[in-house]
Amino acid sequence: MISTQLQKIDSELDPSAKNRGSYWIKTFGCQMNKADSERMAGILRDMGYQEASTELSADLVLYNTCTIRDNAEQKVYSYLGRQAKRKKTSPHLKLVVAGCVAQQEGESLLRRVPELDLVMGPQHANRLETLLNQVDNGQQVVATDEHQILEDLTAARRDSNVCAWVNVIYGCNERCTYCVVPSVRGKEQSRKPEAIKLEIEELAKEGFKEVTLLGQNIDAYGRDLPGIKSTGRRANTLTDLLYFIHDVKGIERIRFATSHPRYFTKRLIQACSDLPKLCEHFHIPFQSGDNQVLKKMARGYTIEKYKRIVYQIKDLMPNASISADVIVAFPGETESQFQNTLKVIREIEFDQVNTAAYSPRPNTPASLWPEQLSEEVKVNRLKELNLLVERTAKNRNNRYKDQLEEVLAESINPKDDKQLMGRTRTNRLTFFPKKGPEDFSYLPGDLVKVKIKDIRPFSLSGIPLK
Ligand code: SAH
Ligand code: SF4
Ligand code: F3S
Repeated sequence: MISTQLQKIDSELDPSAKNRGSYWIKTFGCQMNKADSERMAGILRDMGYQEASTELSADLVLYNTCTIRDNAEQKVYSYLGRQAKRKKTSPHLKLVVAGCVAQQEGESLLRRVPELDLVMGPQHANRLETLLNQVDNGQQVVATDEHQILEDLTAARRDSNVCAWVNVIYGCNERCTYCVVPSVRGKEQSRKPEAIKLEIEELAKEGFKEVTLLGQNIDAYGRDLPGIKSTGRRANTLTDLLYFIHDVKGIERIRFATSHPRYFTKRLIQACSDLPKLCEHFHIPFQSGDNQVLKKMARGYTIEKYKRIVYQIKDLMPNASISADVIVAFPGETESQFQNTLKVIREIEFDQVNTAAYSPRPNTPASLWPEQLSEEVKVNRLKELNLLVERTAKNRNNRYKDQLEEVLAESINPKDDKQLMGRTRTNRLTFFPKKGPEDFSYLPGDLVKVKIKDIRPFSLSGIPLK
């Protein structure tokens, strides 16, 4: 902490250290990448970079990349092509590729795009300053070796000042046969509960109202930390962490993602029901509604177990919302196996489902199997699934009609500055007028009671009541 403070004072005294030029960060992919980008933006600002007004005028451009599916990966190359061209006329431009494509491709990215200055995997995000100093010494740098993630001393530059991401576990030790994440994010590394709590206390002091604890497989939290209770149970589980951080003053809401059905416990469900700040929304991907497919995916649970978890949640929290991720057209998936997935969606009535057609990824077992399905099957199944998901979400949303919901105002609606937008405890995006009864004005950060009037598949609108 002290050394960052000294650096800050140094840069205030030395004006040349202060102005390093401008930066632009573009983030692809999941919340993990968003959180990493916010920390990297914090590092750049501490180094003396200012945020650029446009991508094409920035002195340093950083793409924080995703490779979960082929189309995500390809997007990055088109962005890079444009910047590589610009470097021919602006040789001072610094070009950085961070995140999961960087980790997957490593040095071969330099061969493909020789204009790159720095290629850095996700485990190196907190080392951005050291790596850029090497670039300033005239090197082209590749940082993709396995790395113990350092506790970050820099304050993240967060996009919101109401809701914040807090990493609790990095990496993933699962081996789902379709998934590239373990090979690009590395082994599980849990942060210490004390460090997490300290970060949340700082956030509360800065006025943040909501935190979302993040991990690719958040139920694995603490497995790599020491500590066994006298009962023989691990002392550092996600459930323990929730109790440990719950009472931080000023924080009104706590969320976490992503849950893995294999490790989701009854104790966790009970904690979510008992702890008032824990929001009633659960993101639990099920990937397929067919047990044989689940087995080939190496997910480690049956669809019956999955449903049991959902019904246990609904028993204790009848209004809870449940969302999930699903993959269609996994290698060898038959029409009737696909129908089993649709059946689960009809039965459980999800509030939201993120859907994707299977995409073969490098270094994953399923990509080598001969029973790959055609593009046509992928497109058709995805279309059918999306129609059902939209219908189910809309039906589910009808339960909000004329209800009074607590909404945490997050920001002004970018499409209508007379409106605020925020989310219900169940994570439903909700719009409402800034002005309430008797001309009372609400601000981002306020918890507002909103009477819901309009229902759409993925959002709500209503009027605020004092
Ligand atoms: N850790 C989370 C998900 C991480 S990736 C979990 O275990 O559920 C986010 C989502 O991308 C996955 O849930 C899955 O639905 C999708 N996904 C991952 N690999 C994919 C692939 N090869 N093709 C299509 N979708 C994929
Ligand atoms: Fe990928 Fe499975 Fe890990 Fe999720 S749990 S990140 S799907 S390997
Ligand atoms: Fe993408 Fe990496 Fe997240 S591959 S989904 S950005 S972990």
